[in-house]
Amino acid sequence: MVESAVQRGLEDVVALESRICFIDGKGGRLIYEGYDIRELAARSTFEEIAYLLWYGRLPSARQLEELTTRLATLREVPAPLRRLLEQVPESSSPMDVLRTAVSALAVYEPSESQPGANSIGGAQRLTAVIPTILGEFHRRRKGMPAIRARPELSHAAWLLYALRDKEASELESRAMDVALILHADHELNASTFAARVTASTLSDLYSSVTSAIGTLKGPLHGGANERVMELLEEIGTPEKAEEVVKAKLARHERIMGFGHRVYKVEDPRATILRDWSRRLGETRGDLRYYHLLREVERVVHREKGLYPNVDLYSGSVYSMLGIPKEFFTPIFAASRVAGWTAHVLEEYQDLRLIRPTAQYVGPVDLHYTPLELRE
Ligand code: ACO
Repeated sequence: MVESAVQRGLEDVVALESRICFIDGKGGRLIYEGYDIRELAARSTFEEIAYLLWYGRLPSARQLEELTTRLATLREVPAPLRRLLEQVPESSSPMDVLRTAVSALAVYEPSESQPGANSIGGAQRLTAVIPTILGEFHRRRKGMPAIRARPELSHAAWLLYALRDKEASELESRAMDVALILHADHELNASTFAARVTASTLSDLYSSVTSAIGTLKGPLHGGANERVMELLEEIGTPEKAEEVVKAKLARHERIMGFGHRVYKVEDPRATILRDWSRRLGETRGDLRYYHLLREVERVVHREKGLYPNVDLYSGSVYSMLGIPKEFFTPIFAASRVAGWTAHVLEEYQDLRLIRPTAQYVGPVDLHYTPLELRE
């Protein structure tokens, strides 16, 4: 028998060279363009990170101001897209709506007629417009007032405003900013790979991001934080964590928010978000989520030796920021779009059609049976 050469899930396959993001899975480090995520999360803003990913260097004060202004001016949703958002069923999943809206945007803003649509200009447009798309849909469903332009708000504060219609405190804006920084890129994760595969056919930026959104939606990728919150609801109190988690493991169920294909130690993003979960909980005088998650962590680590990933604490942070559960994955997209577009632009720079092969395991010597002779 021929030994299988298949790397299931492309595990450990090095598919391309990239200078955008480095994950040290054994050391638990995440690097964007040479900078450690811990330093970036402590000191930078999402706008700076978007600049860093697109241009490969940190912006000067003037460049940052220009980018911030540009993102604020690109937020508006074109009228036909707004009408489309008014028509989608209210019960739609926000990720489906986001995927549809980004795809539709390409119809209203075709790249052939927009110089720069397949360059940093297109990346900025997509990054700027996603919070507005989410806000328009959410507000309509909830009967909230129509969204008003707020160019003075940072990207993080605008996202919070779009989804809540309430001024964010400085601490809340900063918590969202940090979450956006932490999610902005992560090497060749499934959605980024999907974006690069699409781009490698010389398809356009909007199509590549549409592929990425569809890929991020799955619960093994971006959809995990929503499931973590469902788990917390099921557990209820820290004393019940042991029983619920052990029962799930006994049924061979996966505990969302744990494990990672690349990290073999704790995901550094989880470490930072754990701290933010505690800080927000302390400010609100309600550490329920934090205590529950710590207990779940203790049991999962003891039973399976697994470490938390970014999704374990992000849901609790978003909940405390007043964001509904079904918008957790769209928020991920609102940040990761910076990384997706940086990767697509990198792909265009050094293009090679991504087209692996499959090991065929079916028969090769069958003969066609006429229809009337088949059973
Ligand atoms: N809960 C329980 N067991 C787990 C978990 C988990 N969360 N993760 C891995 N395992 C177990 C597997 O059952 C398997 O055990 P076995 O060898 O006894 O069968 C072993 O650990 C290895 O698991 P794999 O599936 O081979 O690991 P892989 O690298 O493919 O998985 C993944 C990575 C998909 C993230 C996985 O850990 C998982 O399903 N986690 C839960 C979903 C989640 O949190 N996703 C978010 C990831 S981060 C992100 O995308 C932003």
